[in-house]
Amino acid sequence: MEDKLIPICASDAVAEGGKGVRFAVAAGSYDTTGFVVRYDGVVRGYLNRCAHVPIELDWAEGEFFESSGLYLMCSTHGAIYAPDSGRCVGGPCRGGSLRVIKVIERDQHIYWQPDEFIRPVQKPEQKSAT
Ligand code: FES
Repeated sequence: MEDKLIPICASDAVAEGGKGVRFAVAAGSYDTTGFVVRYDGVVRGYLNRCAHVPIELDWAEGEFFESSGLYLMCSTHGAIYAPDSGRCVGGPCRGGSLRVIKVIERDQHIYWQPDEFIRPVQKPEQKSAT
């Protein structure tokens, strides 16, 4: 059975090589963000965490592509990632990768799917209840 799908945004909010859309996730015990971008016509999802230093990539919200629109770039020290795989292809992230988040585009909407590490953010009352 397909695991839970969580809506992110409408398909037309994520243009080819354009701004990405961030969404809240919990990565392990930390509340952070994931993001989606569109590259080669396909929506790609990643945890918004650089492989160099674990901080968010976008210097301005949603700005993940560098100027050519061919690579994702971390704004802090310029790590460059391939948008179709998340693999580091230049800069201080060498050998690392972005963490993939499974995303699905269906009926003009984009959804993400939790896994064993990337989970929905719990509301405070849910956290204290366990
Ligand atoms: S934190 Fe991303 S390149 Fe250094």
